[in-house]
Amino acid sequence: MRVSIFGTGYVGLVTGACFAEVGNDVICVDVDADKIEQLNRGEMPIFEPGLEAMVIRNRDAGRLRFTTDAAMAVEHGDFQFIAVGTPSDEDGSADLRHVLTVADTIATSMESHRIIVDKSTVPVGTADRVREAVDRRLQQRGVTTSYSVVSNPEFLKEGAAINDFMKPERVIVGCDDAYSREQLHALYAPFNRNHDRLISMDVRSAELTKYAANAMLATKISFMNELANIADRVGADIERVRIGIGADPRIGYHFIYPGAGYGGSCFPKDVKALARTAHDVDYVPQLLQAVEEVNDRQKHYLFNRIREHYRGDLAGRRFALWGLSFKPNTDDMREAASRRLMESLWEAGASVQAFDPKAMDETRRLYGDRAGLTLCDSPEAALEGCDALVVMTEWNLFRSPDFELIRSHLADAVIFDGRNIYDPAVLARLGFQYHAIGRPP
Ligand code: UGA
Repeated sequence: MRVSIFGTGYVGLVTGACFAEVGNDVICVDVDADKIEQLNRGEMPIFEPGLEAMVIRNRDAGRLRFTTDAAMAVEHGDFQFIAVGTPSDEDGSADLRHVLTVADTIATSMESHRIIVDKSTVPVGTADRVREAVDRRLQQRGVTTSYSVVSNPEFLKEGAAINDFMKPERVIVGCDDAYSREQLHALYAPFNRNHDRLISMDVRSAELTKYAANAMLATKISFMNELANIADRVGADIERVRIGIGADPRIGYHFIYPGAGYGGSCFPKDVKALARTAHDVDYVPQLLQAVEEVNDRQKHYLFNRIREHYRGDLAGRRFALWGLSFKPNTDDMREAASRRLMESLWEAGASVQAFDPKAMDETRRLYGDRAGLTLCDSPEAALEGCDALVVMTEWNLFRSPDFELIRSHLADAVIFDGRNIYDPAVLARLGFQYHAIGRPP
């Protein structure tokens, strides 16, 4: 089948590569000419395991092309995917500027029936706005052609994006006409082999499903972070509690890890946008507001522990930071808890020596040569001359370190752990003071 995809960010690029991988003829479009050139050379603008090889393989087979030529892409694809960013506006609502610009671009050269697919995470009602934008342009051009607008939100996770797309737990298709439902079914058939994972529904329900899923996951995390704070105060160990409650299949073990607050490009933005949608229809979303507030507070948790440990005396201290990305297997730093921590430490007069397996370039791009930040090329180098170690991302590399070596580099044998990856008993035996989330010291 012929597919065109607007936007070569995480979602667009992975979607394009995976559709090409199963034999479709795919064109990816972006307004950023540098990015398109880079992709044509086989260089990835983001780090995502398995993506580069898949892109190069399909580019070389002629099934995956990258262009800035939108008209060619509109001519090419029976499916026109909109996979551009929807950043948060100042009031928390999703900014649909890019989505509507693409809708207008498609309508600017559309001559015959196309299925326009919203893949970006967009608020309920966006399909209607896309339709309005398309109608306006078609009318202006005097072109009369039928078309459909479908909502097909994406559920991939960064760091596991290829696998999530190739073996989806579900594919949500929201459409109001039988023809596009059939076409989408055919397009997703190769990913839908063992049993039918395609769930179709009306457009608005599909749009809401995406937010509902992310808001539910964010709620689980904030719930656990709240409990971790309670555990601290009553002398319980949240990790024991986690294992205890997860045993109930109605609760389950997934996604109940406490930490330094959720980050990334999705949860913070989507929880805000859903709350905004609720306000817009005169509903006060108390639970969603609390989820966000708890997460905001959690991002200060580790800094507060550090400040307490040093009795407020942080000026001139130096901290080794392991992990900068918002989670492992990505170089993405959007809303990463490490950023809030570094900024608080700098404000208090402390400095940071940081190492991350993938996010060093991104950190350099964000902070440049900022005073108080030294980027180191190994976890060991980051420790040198520091007062204490802070772990912010649970990369495998940090899970079983040489604790003797850590101790020999640090002024104090102190570890602050924002991901609860070490065993307190082991660290106590080795003579460390270990501060984790919701665990007794
Ligand atoms: C998230 C969802 O998991 C995907 O299903 C969704 O498709 C995606 O957003 C999206 O809307 O595009 P992602 O942002 O890549 O995916 O990352 P997650 O793996 O969900 O992690 C988000 C944050 O939650 C991270 O900061 C992580 O450390 C934190 N987290 C996760 C916890 O603190 N505890 C947990 O138990 C799980």
